[in-house]
Amino acid sequence: MSRSRLITHPPHLPLVGASILAADFARLGAECRAVLDAGADMLHLDVMDGHFVPNLTMGPAVCRSLRDALPDACLDVHRMVTNPGDCVQPFADAGADQLTFHIEAESDPPALAERIRAAGMTAGLAVNPPTPLSQLLPYVGAFDLLLVMSVNPGFAGQSFIDDVLSKTRDLRRRLRSNQRLQMDGGINGATAHDCREAGCDLIVAASAIFRSDDYARAVAMLRGRLPG
Ligand code: DX5
Ligand code: ZN
Repeated sequence: MSRSRLITHPPHLPLVGASILAADFARLGAECRAVLDAGADMLHLDVMDGHFVPNLTMGPAVCRSLRDALPDACLDVHRMVTNPGDCVQPFADAGADQLTFHIEAESDPPALAERIRAAGMTAGLAVNPPTPLSQLLPYVGAFDLLLVMSVNPGFAGQSFIDDVLSKTRDLRRRLRSNQRLQMDGGINGATAHDCREAGCDLIVAASAIFRSDDYARAVAMLRGRLPG
């Protein structure tokens, strides 16, 4: 199975993505290898432009370095940027498997999904907590992955916003079995339970993994294999 098929044809569910935003960037390669060895299914790269969100993080160069260091890793890129149509090919060239952008930033989501697929990646559409599901629904069928944000994006370590769970349940009912429902922000052992109950099958966490002293235990807890 190729890396880019992992999201639509996964070996098991729920999948767990480790957001590197809470990693020690001075030891990034070693930290990423450790979370993958601990059972994380993918690395989640939070790309922020200092405009769509009030923070600046990483670009294709970090993706390229991780691809070179970890040739088999699934690289899930979450772009919190004002111009999501920029840099599609640079991320594909840098070895990204999955590219997600925000509905709040794009007027023609299906066209951009097609460009992402044409570049060899799977396509995801993200929605911020205040944005109603009705804004997403016309485009749901065009994506491999839908991401419901459970914090207002920008920083790791924020608190989970419970209100997004009803939107998530509603969305789950409208997805095909090969479409992933991802949730991201403020997820720990306790809130992961609520995410799974709401139908999420791809859980992303930064702090709960990288700020734990036992990555394998943290990943198992998020997956629901250990009490939260
Ligand atoms: C939020 C990012 C998340 C974030 C999650 O702006 O998209 O991926 O890193 O961090 P935690 O798990 O600490 O809330
Ligand atoms: Zn993210």
